[in-house]
Amino acid sequence: MNFEEIGALEDRIQVATYAKLPIAVQRGEGAWVWASEGEKYLDLYGGHAVCATGHSHPLVVDAIKRQAERMIFYSNLVYSETRGSAAERLASVAPDGLQKVFFCSSGTEANENAMRMARMATGREKIVSFSGGFHGRTADSISATFLGKYREIGKPNVPGHAMAEFGDIESVRAVVDQETAAVIIEPIQSMAGVREAPPEFFVELKEVCEANGALLIFDEVQTGVGRTGSWFFAGSENAGGVVPDIVSLAKSLGSGVPVGACLTNDTVAGAIKINDLGTTFGGGMLAMAAVHATLDAIEEDAMLENAARFERKVREIAEANGKITGVRGKGCLLGLEFAGPASAVHQRLLEKRIITGTSSDPNVLRLLPPLCTEIADLGLLVDALND
Ligand SMILES: Cc1ncc(COP(=O)(O)O)c(C=O)c1O
Repeated sequence: MNFEEIGALEDRIQVATYAKLPIAVQRGEGAWVWASEGEKYLDLYGGHAVCATGHSHPLVVDAIKRQAERMIFYSNLVYSETRGSAAERLASVAPDGLQKVFFCSSGTEANENAMRMARMATGREKIVSFSGGFHGRTADSISATFLGKYREIGKPNVPGHAMAEFGDIESVRAVVDQETAAVIIEPIQSMAGVREAPPEFFVELKEVCEANGALLIFDEVQTGVGRTGSWFFAGSENAGGVVPDIVSLAKSLGSGVPVGACLTNDTVAGAIKINDLGTTFGGGMLAMAAVHATLDAIEEDAMLENAARFERKVREIAEANGKITGVRGKGCLLGLEFAGPASAVHQRLLEKRIITGTSSDPNVLRLLPPLCTEIADLGLLVDALND
């Protein structure tokens, strides 16, 4: 089928989701994607911040092929070596103290369960989150989302949610109290335009939580699994070394096979009893094979180092360009600031066969590429931006 036919088919039969780019993808390899008319694109959006190991990394493909032949799925109702060893592998790279794992299937589901665990561990209900944060589209996650119109879409909202200002510790002090179960934060606010807070903010945030007996949750659905150049934002110098009580993950974790997870400590895990949490698909074998292989591929191909290299190169490019007024973010989660609408740049780059992302800040263009993006391939971006 050609592009017109594919587009017409999807539009006729699918309920609307996102405003789609005018391409129909057919295959991918590393940071490259081929579309229906044979055109080749540099994917600096990484399949929606998902394909951290690149499209169809051979190690991941091999692992899921072999697993699919053995067994695609069985739930947590049975034990499985594949699941146990994926959990152990994930715990081996997790921040110190967060060696307990709960698997689910998406980012919003990870956040729902993170908040539920916090309520169970504290016996409290209130959740505090931040202006500009995005946590997903199911009931509790969308109620914790104070970005744009999302809470409106999610009405009626779950009661007991309150908002503090991102990066403003006094506003946190004003809302976190002895009734707060948890504070949930997206440590780099990606969708809001790659907004950052300084390391001291996270240190003070942890102090306020501890003083009130509230738990701290980092939503690392985007920042986790190597994207910012360290395995996690939690425990990194960007977080002032702060390790929260729970980290939620999804997106990159399975290289595109749907999987989410919560990492937590012994205290929180100890408060969860059998049958308190559940999910049919979480911990299924195919997803677990993908998790194990994803972490192996990131390590074997030194992708954390490459993510840091990518950031340095983009900052150089931005400086030399003249039209880019600033660069936000870390590693492979970057926002390029322009003096005018980034949507025009996004559109022109797509015409030059480079996929990037916009954000809810109209002047910020987002780059969320695979962690294995070759620095040499950025020549294409330089030429396109100059043009
Ligand atoms: C920070 C963050 N949290 C949660 C989510 C929700 O993840 P999912 O779409 O897998 O439910 C997203 C998705 O973009 C996200 O960026």
